[in-house]
Amino acid sequence: MRVLENGYTVKDLGIDSINCLANLHKTSFTRGWGAHDFALFLQDNKMKVLGAFSNGDKNPNAFLLVRCVADEAEVISIAVGRRHRRKGVAEGMLDVAIDTLYDKGIKELHLEVDETNKGAVQLYNQAGFEVVGERRAYYQGKKGEKASSALMMRLVLDEE
Ligand SMILES: CC(C)(COP(=O)(O)OP(=O)(O)OC[C@H]1O[C@@H](n2cnc3c(N)ncnc32)[C@H](O)[C@@H]1OP(=O)(O)O)[C@@H](O)C(=O)NCCC(=O)NCCS
Repeated sequence: MRVLENGYTVKDLGIDSINCLANLHKTSFTRGWGAHDFALFLQDNKMKVLGAFSNGDKNPNAFLLVRCVADEAEVISIAVGRRHRRKGVAEGMLDVAIDTLYDKGIKELHLEVDETNKGAVQLYNQAGFEVVGERRAYYQGKKGEKASSALMMRLVLDEE
């Protein structure tokens, strides 16, 4: 558990959070994952599920899902409730995850992000991620819009 400078508390989430996680996901992404999906994630011992809580809230206001395989990890999803955005919550959760992953011996953290999701791209740039590849036309465009590319980003945690 860690208390961030902005007052939010970041801690590991348990199975009792699945409905809140599904709600947060639904309000943040076009194709929402359900409570069943989150139940599976929480039972997967390769998955790290962090939540951020504002003072006094018993339900998480944000989450970060990271999957570890061997000495690499991948950000599977991150979302912050609308009312809690631009307060450093995502940045704080990433910091906590990065420290924990480093302590576990993870050497690289990977992720994919839609190139048009400027806020998320900026978040990852600020956290030190670099673009290492691109999947052209990976995300289907909404009606009339052209498909956008996925940027593949990487943060090296341990140069060794
Ligand atoms: C992307 C998201 C997780 C950011 O969460 P957040 O808690 O608001 O981000 P933070 O407050 O920690 O922002 C840290 C930095 O990221 C950048 N950033 C975050 N959101 C931004 C936005 N909407 N526009 C521009 N820059 C943004 C800024 O550099 C910011 O630092 P600053 O506030 O000092 O300028 C949040 O907007 C969200 O949940 N979006 C919907 C789900 C999503 O797109 N997830 C990412 C999928 S890859």
